[in-house]
Amino acid sequence: MAAIMKPGQRRTLRRRARVARRSLRLFRAYKWRALGLLVVVAVTTTLDLLPALLIGLIVDEPIQGDADFRRMGLLFAGITAMYAVSAVCSVWSGWINQQIGQGIMYDLRAQLHAHLQRVSVHFFTSSRTGEILSRVSNDVNQLQIYVTQLYAAMLTNGITLLIAMGLMVVLNWQLAVAAILLLLLWVLPTMKVGQHMRRLQRARQEETADMSAHLEETLSVSGSMLVRAFGRQDHESQRFSKMNDSLRTLAIRQVMAGRWFQMSTRLFGSVAIGFVFWLGSYGVAENQVSVGSVVAFALLTQRVFQPFSLVARGTTDIIASLAIFQRIYEYLDLPVDVDEKADAVQVDHPRGVVEFDRVGFAYDAADGPALHDISFRLEPGQMAALVGPSGAGKTTVTYLLQRFYDPGEGAIRLDGHDLRDLTLDTVARTIGTVAQDTSLFNSTLIENIRYGRIEATDEEVEEAAQTAGLRDLVERLPEGLHTRVGERGYHLSGGEKQRVSIARAILKDPPVLVLDEATASLDSLLEREIREATSRLSAGRTTVVIAHRLSTIVSADVIFVMQDGRIIDRGTHEELLARGGLYARLYHEQFGGKATVSPADGAPEPSWQS
Ligand SMILES: Nc1ncnc2c1ncn2[C@@H]1O[C@H](COP(=O)(O)OP(=O)(O)OP(=O)(O)O)[C@@H](O)[C@H]1O
Ligand SMILES: [Mg+2]
Repeated sequence: MAAIMKPGQRRTLRRRARVARRSLRLFRAYKWRALGLLVVVAVTTTLDLLPALLIGLIVDEPIQGDADFRRMGLLFAGITAMYAVSAVCSVWSGWINQQIGQGIMYDLRAQLHAHLQRVSVHFFTSSRTGEILSRVSNDVNQLQIYVTQLYAAMLTNGITLLIAMGLMVVLNWQLAVAAILLLLLWVLPTMKVGQHMRRLQRARQEETADMSAHLEETLSVSGSMLVRAFGRQDHESQRFSKMNDSLRTLAIRQVMAGRWFQMSTRLFGSVAIGFVFWLGSYGVAENQVSVGSVVAFALLTQRVFQPFSLVARGTTDIIASLAIFQRIYEYLDLPVDVDEKADAVQVDHPRGVVEFDRVGFAYDAADGPALHDISFRLEPGQMAALVGPSGAGKTTVTYLLQRFYDPGEGAIRLDGHDLRDLTLDTVARTIGTVAQDTSLFNSTLIENIRYGRIEATDEEVEEAAQTAGLRDLVERLPEGLHTRVGERGYHLSGGEKQRVSIARAILKDPPVLVLDEATASLDSLLEREIREATSRLSAGRTTVVIAHRLSTIVSADVIFVMQDGRIIDRGTHEELLARGGLYARLYHEQFGGKATVSPADGAPEPSWQS
């Protein structure tokens, strides 16, 4: 058969086989339970089918001469007992099945979560967050249905089918052959309907995904502001109603296809029973079979129909489930660029010596390098200011220092250790950041600040909030530190968010600090508060600051002037001004020489916009 397959089909088959093997490995931890499930299901279905034979015996009892009522009573008791035990066993098998299915889902979710925390930052910057999350959760939910329902249903129906057919052959093989031939007529239409229903299902899923993406875009905080700002409510409503409409049509078509299928299965089943009685009547007339056997046979035929169509249809679902497994594996196989070595060094009390040694880096090989040959060394407690035009690579330097990415060339060292040789925990504990656009969780202020050091006490958090200049805000808020900050911190102003971020860093108390100064001009009072909070924070720490404010730049121990991914000049403010290069030009353009070098407290301070 392999010889007549096209290469494409063969590849698909090989890929499916690979996915199936990998998926089977997930079941390995549950193999004893799976075996138990098999046994219980076999017992359940046998006890569910055997009563058909006993009913046949009851029917024959009065027909074949003197009826023994005691025997008939016993047969009835047997039937009842079998059905009862089978019913209890079916609950038991459901329990085992859930143990296996939910267990596998637990394992997969845990693996996915652990892995997605480790994949490279690149993955998150190059795909839409909402899309990843919805794809992962949709795939996991869909798979959950397959793993906890489909496989067990296929097992139960498959075993029912086998046992019922076996009993039919034992009862009367000629009738059995006729009934099986009739069933086979039913295979093709069933599979076709199965494919059709899957297509509808897929279309519906795609439409649902589009709709949730749309909802996520327009109903998020920033999205809803965007829609209002451009007055696009009508446009969005139209887009939505198109999707809404097609979802309605698809849902109706899907349900109706299911209805037609059910109806025809039932019809075919009833016809088949009539057929069995009709054929059986010949046998009875020629004294080859008893009436009871025909009745038993008809009962089994009836029992065989549903499992048969479910198994025929389920095969397409099993193939579909492999596709979902494959997608989950794609997430699990996403590369981890920044990984911890097996023998990584843990530094308990880092001093904070930061060294860039001829560092080169490209986000994407195709885009060309973002950094070239960056070298500098900062002693503990020193402060370096990065200045330069937009796109010069300032933020990139801070990303590499935090080991979001590894450099392509050269090395970054912390206390003499290459970052790549340190544990991820050492790097995370050593380096603290105050970002321009701080990420906050939709939780309380206190929990957001505590993220800096999870084990901090309430008092420590309060103190950090004070030091960061959050006292006024906390006093004003109805629930103080226990006020919720809203989705991504939208209830707070930009300056307040930045102070939360400062409080977080104070709590964390890292030897190395990365600061990204706000470019937006703040009012002078706030400006001064934040400046004071940051200078309190950076005192005694090795600090790398992307500086926009003149006061920061002037107070830095060293200024690195960056352009096109290189450090083109370095020195103190005076040295650089005296040299008259890019720095002097930027300075004169920006401040026009008007600003005093150390602005008086409270006066609006010029900001170095890059
Ligand atoms: N995730 C990314 N993927 C690909 N390229 C990137 C990525 N982030 C930044 N870049 C590119 O790298 C270069 C340096 O960017 P970087 O953000 O470091 O500049 P910057 O000096 O911080 O600029 P700004 O002052 O505007 O913040 C830019 O050309 C930018 O387009
Ligand atoms: Mg930047």
